[in-house]
Amino acid sequence: MCGIVGYIGKQEAVPILIEGLKRLEYRGYDSAGIAILENGCLHFEKTAGKIAVLEEQLKGKIFRATTGIAHTRWATHGVPNDLNAHPHLDCTGKIAVVHNGIIENFRGLKGFLEKRGHIFKSDTDTEIICHLVEEYYDGNIVEAVRTAMSQVTGTYGIAVLSLDEPGVVVAARHGSPLVIGQGDGETFVASDLSAILGHTKRVAYLEDMELAKITTDGFEISTIENVPVTRELQEISWTLDMIEKGGYQHFMIKEIFEQPVTIRNALRGRLNFNEGTSRLNGLNLQFDELRHINRIIITACGTSWHAGLIGEYLIEEYARIPVEVEYASEFRYRSPIINDGTVVFAVSQSGETADTLAALREAKRKGATVLGICNVVGSTIARDSDGGVYIHAGPEIGVASTKAFTSQIAVLSLITILLARMRNMSTDEGVRLLEALNNVPEQAEALLEKDKEIKELAAKYSSAENFLYLGRGLNFPVALEGALKLKEISYIHAEGYPAAEMKHGPIALIDDRMPVVVIAVKDAVYDKVISNIEEIRARRGRVIAIATEGDIRIRYLVDDVIYVPHTIPFVSPLINIIPLQLLAYHMAVMRGCPVDQPRNLAKSVTVE
Ligand code: G6P
Repeated sequence: MCGIVGYIGKQEAVPILIEGLKRLEYRGYDSAGIAILENGCLHFEKTAGKIAVLEEQLKGKIFRATTGIAHTRWATHGVPNDLNAHPHLDCTGKIAVVHNGIIENFRGLKGFLEKRGHIFKSDTDTEIICHLVEEYYDGNIVEAVRTAMSQVTGTYGIAVLSLDEPGVVVAARHGSPLVIGQGDGETFVASDLSAILGHTKRVAYLEDMELAKITTDGFEISTIENVPVTRELQEISWTLDMIEKGGYQHFMIKEIFEQPVTIRNALRGRLNFNEGTSRLNGLNLQFDELRHINRIIITACGTSWHAGLIGEYLIEEYARIPVEVEYASEFRYRSPIINDGTVVFAVSQSGETADTLAALREAKRKGATVLGICNVVGSTIARDSDGGVYIHAGPEIGVASTKAFTSQIAVLSLITILLARMRNMSTDEGVRLLEALNNVPEQAEALLEKDKEIKELAAKYSSAENFLYLGRGLNFPVALEGALKLKEISYIHAEGYPAAEMKHGPIALIDDRMPVVVIAVKDAVYDKVISNIEEIRARRGRVIAIATEGDIRIRYLVDDVIYVPHTIPFVSPLINIIPLQLLAYHMAVMRGCPVDQPRNLAKSVTVE
């Protein structure tokens, strides 16, 4: 989704801004642009397409500007073309704005501004911001932005430049994240840490309804209502190599291969074998409060929603607490019932997904205790929650989530054990589950060695146009996630179903051109899943089974088998998803798809 980078300092701004934009490419975008101040001129270049096209346009133009703002756009209002790309300028060409988010009252404001004589060049909602700032500009760009932003409703993260005040970049936020980075005699602003991590690790996040005056020496934050805010800088621990490919062809495959380490990181320091429970101090809940929980709602989007479904199966089965899993986009408008004892978990890799954030705020408003399960430290959801658990997966760059998914499941497993041990689970059972979790990184490592075999299998099926994924119980959400991975990155149509549900519709689709991936590991429903496989075979469907090592019998029933290590059901989703991630990845590569940045998708969906 849209990305912002801004710079003010003593170095040449253009290379810093372009490099920053490239670090944001993974978020998904369709156009890019840049505005800089130099020798009393405001220059801008913008274009539909990739950053490489923008670079091409900048070639041969020597800029020595030390102040600038830049943007990658993911279209919401107006098609992705050169005119709609950011930055946008006011009528005088002296004020430039880049914007993430959506201005909801832009039509009304546009009418008002047109009556005042402003001329609009694009179809975007963003352009009204430039004209509003121009309307209120009276020699002080910070105050003009403040007045302008107090008139808009919707979401925004913006950076603004004014030719008349070259020593200042103004940033403001409501709903779209912005982080300020402090260097030595230079200051950065970005929508995502990765854009500035190569330059500084000392950062401060803007909160909603705040505005920052950014100069070479630092920044001053105040609220939109002009109340000064003191914000300490924090030191970030992520490093630059963590956001680079490290020899892999794509971020996605690098991230799939990181899972033994990232799952270990999610568990680190949290396994209490002595007492057969887990330690999750970040939840900020006392023993009594944890015991008092009588209902859990998990809210999330996309892959995180699938992790939530696995959480539901785990918590209900082991801790015996009723759980509902809600799409955040539905939850936020549903007037959810929140009672005393209801806890809401918001699961989000980025911690910035607009719907999940809104769902969390809705739950909070209704009196629920809200807890975040996030990856990005300091993200909005993490900050807005009463407590939570970081998954510690490190930066996830591939748009299709992989390592964050398994880390989310690992954390939900720890929460399950914690809650279950306060209820009816024995110490021995707690220890048994902890041991199983603790073995997962090693088992994942062994499974990843089958990458070559899975790649060969991918070659056999990569020309298929439809896929079904089936699983039961805990492996039903795994089937959903396997199907989502495939459709996201290879554009093959894929659907996940509970295996037995196939009879109620999808079976009509099965013929000899329909590959069906069936998770058929040795668990309580194994025999039932085998019956489902027979039903597919009877209709000449092609079956790829995910089966437990040593299950010889299944080989004779299906076309292909990927064997996974034996696990207890509690941890089986953590293992079973890995071959499905690899299968999707290889098929997408074989089909020539841009795996890390699939068309139309964004890493972090910061608009509704
Ligand atoms: C986007 C991404 C998905 C992700 C979802 C939720 O759709 O493409 O990979 O699962 O957002 O994101 P979150 O950051 O809240 O987990």
